[in-house]
Amino acid sequence: MTRLHDDVRLAGAYQPGNAMPESSLRAWAELIASFAPCPAPAVLEIGAGTGMFCAALARWQRASPVVGVDPSVPMLEQARRHNAHPGVHYVVGSAEAVPTRAESFDLALLSRVVHHLPDRPACARELTRVLRPGGVVVIRTTFRERLDALVYDYWPQLRAVDEQRFPGRQEVLADFTRAGFTVREVTSFAQPVTPALRAYHERMSTRPQSKFSYLTTAEFETGLRRLARDAASEPASAPWPVPERYDLAALALD
Ligand SMILES: C[S@@+](CC[C@H](N)C(=O)[O-])C[C@H]1O[C@@H](n2cnc3c(N)ncnc32)[C@H](O)[C@@H]1O
Repeated sequence: MTRLHDDVRLAGAYQPGNAMPESSLRAWAELIASFAPCPAPAVLEIGAGTGMFCAALARWQRASPVVGVDPSVPMLEQARRHNAHPGVHYVVGSAEAVPTRAESFDLALLSRVVHHLPDRPACARELTRVLRPGGVVVIRTTFRERLDALVYDYWPQLRAVDEQRFPGRQEVLADFTRAGFTVREVTSFAQPVTPALRAYHERMSTRPQSKFSYLTTAEFETGLRRLARDAASEPASAPWPVPERYDLAALALD
């Protein structure tokens, strides 16, 4: 299996395969920025990937500067190509060793990344270093207790895989409170990721997420055929938007 950080194929498929309708991305950016302790916050995104949240926060929430850190060079190449913005800087680094000075940011975002971290407590400690006093970390994830995305209807094997990969709510909160954060809010929020099931089928056919690497080719093809059949029965005049729900935890440094 290719290491996630070196996966050029995944990096190329990630942006088109995870882009959202503009209204969804705006709604997410607004919610994430609502936890910032000040207007126009300095933002650090850990595991920025192809940078869609970095650009959205700079563009619509006046976040400045925005630094997107990721260990994957191929992901950051895609970020610079698809989500360039004058106020956004993409930097190679990791959650456990962020290449910036202490007390540089008001808001840190970890979107769909906590399940990738080899050492979550080290990440939490590092964020206490790089955030300013009063700074907030927003964790956007799926806690293990709520694996309810549509993807599991077509690839049920992935539920068992993700039960192993995704941490539970209490585990994540405990790692960050032990490091010195206080829980501000835990909530969840859903937005359409594609406007129709046909579009969802099209994007899934590119295997745009790392979870698909846990399936055999036969398992992947079987699920994709079932999804294609359902998408073919979608009425063109009344498409079925596909929502995805994410959990959100906001924790602050006193
Ligand atoms: C699923 S992508 C999320 C990208 C983006 N945040 C989003 O929500 O679309 C996960 C990202 O985490 C990165 N990642 C993996 N291990 C990491 C680590 N130790 N520190 C920081 N980022 C990491 C991966 O390279 C990948 O780009």
